Amino acid sequence: MLTEVTAVRYVTPLREGGSLPGLVETDDGRGAHATYVMKFTGAGQGRKTLVAEVICGRLADRLGLRVPGLAGIRLDPVLGLGEPDQEVQQLLKSSGGLNLGMDYLPGALGFDPLAFEVDPLEAGRVIWFDALINNVDRSWRNPNLLVWHGDVWLIDHGASMIWHHNWPTASAAAGKPYDATDHVLARYAPDLAAAAADLAPRVTADLLAEVTADVPDTWLTDEAGFDTPDEVRRAYAETLLPRAKSIHERITLEGAAK
Ligand SMILES: Nc1ncnc2c1ncn2[C@@H]1O[C@H](COP(=O)(O)OP(=O)(O)O)[C@@H](O)[C@H]1O
Ligand SMILES: [Mg+2]
Repeated sequence: MLTEVTAVRYVTPLREGGSLPGLVETDDGRGAHATYVMKFTGAGQGRKTLVAEVICGRLADRLGLRVPGLAGIRLDPVLGLGEPDQEVQQLLKSSGGLNLGMDYLPGALGFDPLAFEVDPLEAGRVIWFDALINNVDRSWRNPNLLVWHGDVWLIDHGASMIWHHNWPTASAAAGKPYDATDHVLARYAPDLAAAAADLAPRVTADLLAEVTADVPDTWLTDEAGFDTPDEVRRAYAETLLPRAKSIHERITLEGAAK
């Protein structure tokens, strides 16, 4: 389960990406305040973005990749009333209830491939992980990597696992190859064989049950074709499990000299 906190102040939008995440101050109910990057259920891409963030974020963490910690953030839409920006006000109004928070990494910089070296082992691990979740959002144009305290951190997994938009075709879609030609880390001679040998055996049914259990029920209810949230969780796990076993054979890196 995710830790849950309550939003007490909307600080500012983070306008870089498309989903209009915002910086939010929260209270844990015992008076401890913290700052989170908040992603909203009412944002254009909807709650599946948040489901993908939780499953992929928790999975990355359990595989030893650096990702910001996650929390559920309860939002009272009243918080939007004082917002001068119409777009933000609308977003807050339509996102009452549980939303997603990520630990804010203060002072983190966007990853610049010309200014930062990544070793082949780490590059391989990140690309293998992105292939597993079919992440199309880690290109050199839009890396979704932050550099913080000298390390690379992974953010923004909302556009991964495209198959969850069409469950009847999910197993076929999940069998497809991964084109890493445009991947921001493709230029660092990624050691995919080492990554697969280390990470693939760790993506077990138990681990997938654990990370999918962290998705709040409210984001999984009333999914067409499923009776319960647990059935949806199993569908995610049953798609990722076979993909983990064989995806390293289907990652394209050719022509990656960028
Ligand atoms: N945990 C974080 N700590 C610091 N800055 C962040 C964090 N998460 C996101 N950001 C900043 O906000 C921007 C948008 O976030 P992102 O998750 O990429 O959302 P999207 O691209 O869907 O709008 C990032 O490019 C980054 O600059
Ligand atoms: Mg982004």
